Amino acid sequence: SILDIVVNNEIDLDGYGACEGTLTCSTCHLIFPKDVYDNLPKKPAEEEMDMLDLAHELTDTSRLGCQII
Ligand code: FES
Repeated sequence: SILDIVVNNEIDLDGYGACEGTLTCSTCHLIFPKDVYDNLPKKPAEEEMDMLDLAHELTDTSRLGCQII
């Protein structure tokens, strides 16, 4: 996942991925350009949509980085 890339490369994003991908935090919120969003490998599952509802500044092209593989 994108969260794995951040963790494995020791990228210092303060607070990013706080729940380590267990879909309980929404700190891995990402906003994609529309063309990128439309070409992501899978659509968000119901659980991701529920957590996205809690994300700060949600957009139509928001996803959770821990769910994008
Ligand atoms: Fe918590 Fe993605 S890391 S929801």
